[in-house]
Amino acid sequence: MKITKICCIGAGYVGGPTMAVIAQKCPHIQVTVVDLNEQRIKDWNDPNTKNIPIYEPGLSSIVAEARGRNLFFSTEVDKAIDEAEMIFISVNTPTKTYGKGKGMAADLKYIELCARQIARVAKQNKIVVEKSTLPVRTAEAIKSILDNTGNGVQFQILSNPEFLAEGTAVTDLLNPDRILIGGDTTPEGEIAIKALVDVYANWVAEEKILTTNVWSSELSKLTANAFLAQRISSINAMSELCEKTGADVSEVARAIGMDSRIGPKFLKASVGFGGSCFQKDILNLVYIAKSYGLNEVADYWEQVIVMNDHQKRRFSNKIVQTLYNTVADKKIAFLGWAFKKDTNDTRESAAIYVADDLINEQAKIAVYDPKVSEHKIMNDLNYLETRSVTDNKNAVVAFENAYDACKDAHAIAILTEWDEFVSYDWQKIYDNMHKPAFVFDGRNILNAKELEEIGFVYHGIGS
Ligand code: UDX
Ligand code: ADP
Repeated sequence: MKITKICCIGAGYVGGPTMAVIAQKCPHIQVTVVDLNEQRIKDWNDPNTKNIPIYEPGLSSIVAEARGRNLFFSTEVDKAIDEAEMIFISVNTPTKTYGKGKGMAADLKYIELCARQIARVAKQNKIVVEKSTLPVRTAEAIKSILDNTGNGVQFQILSNPEFLAEGTAVTDLLNPDRILIGGDTTPEGEIAIKALVDVYANWVAEEKILTTNVWSSELSKLTANAFLAQRISSINAMSELCEKTGADVSEVARAIGMDSRIGPKFLKASVGFGGSCFQKDILNLVYIAKSYGLNEVADYWEQVIVMNDHQKRRFSNKIVQTLYNTVADKKIAFLGWAFKKDTNDTRESAAIYVADDLINEQAKIAVYDPKVSEHKIMNDLNYLETRSVTDNKNAVVAFENAYDACKDAHAIAILTEWDEFVSYDWQKIYDNMHKPAFVFDGRNILNAKELEEIGFVYHGIGS
């Protein structure tokens, strides 16, 4: 079976970049990305591709190349479903905020709505591909909705989890470590798997394309994220011990990373991991384990989150303690708000929680992030519902540049590892601050020695 038309439901951080790369690499396939959010689609169609709604290095030029040729962004969901032979579901699956599994399980309401919409619209056989991170056995639920409410149409459900990391989405998509495709082991399932393998084979070597059963594929995605997050919590746990004992966590990380069995990646101590995936996926794993009565398995993985929460709180506590146990009415400058560099995504960013703690201590927060707007910052804080919108507004201001954000501050906290922070004129920043001037480097990116020579009191993570 040869695919000529793909539809992707959800024009977000996963759907947008993934479909842009598929369209670029497969000019013979028409790729239509649809979303209910009209503004988002309008932004994807902005004549200036620099204004597309997701910032990812290299993405705007790919969109410029493929958009209008074989890549389209639209709000006409039904039409795109009807036309496509293959439909990707890339809608968000946030942690449930209500009912059974609240705070733990993934909220599948958007997925279910998509399945029902596909069932209603489809008149010909379709391959439905789960792209969003989903709890194990979601494919089964989607299949049951499709089979029971459809128009006698045959559906094949594939799981094809996305492993791209934000900030490096384009290179990850162009040169993936592997592509994972899970499907049924029936003859029809194998035809569907082959159809998707053929799409990726346009630019990915076949030996990197793994095929498994659906459940293995779904569980592999949760497991990969849990392992990566676990490494960060492990090194962060060591960072606290290092601070107490005088070891340097970066040296420890380098030493253990040279062991080829451990490897050097994902060993950077930080103020805590953020992003839309790690916490959500681990909570999901914990929920699944608990629902099978596997309490030890659940407790084991939950510790990764416990450690991460501790690390964020430890960072804000350290700021308060160091500033003579009070930050009331003191200006604390935040450099970085996004959950990592090279993205404008702020979901679960450690900055949100550190700010929240410091506002509770009546600090004034001045934020500069190269890609995040004040509007987004305020939304992130308001979403926590810790205090009124007005109180948040009175406590936080965003600035257009770091120099203004740091002016008259008592302390600077580095929350995101943006490259530009390293090359600032730190002497100039120091001259305009209250003394003693503190730097709390939550990413260990600045040169401690240079800053101390200028006069800063420098605190990195784990040293
Ligand atoms: C992650 C997975 O890497 C990706 O495969 C999956 O598809 C989605 O989830 P992402 O959340 O985009 O990707 O970014 P990632 O690079 O994994 O970073 C996650 C968080 O961990 C960030 O806050 C980052 O700053 C932090 N981190 C990462 C550390 O604190 N230390 C490290 O050594 C690495
Ligand atoms: P992710 O990081 O998983 O890509 P995002 O929140 O960035 O998550 O994107 C998910 C997108 O899916 C959002 O733009 C949202 O509007 C869209 N979406 C959710 N449900 C539907 C639906 N039923 N039909 C079309 N789009 C949807």
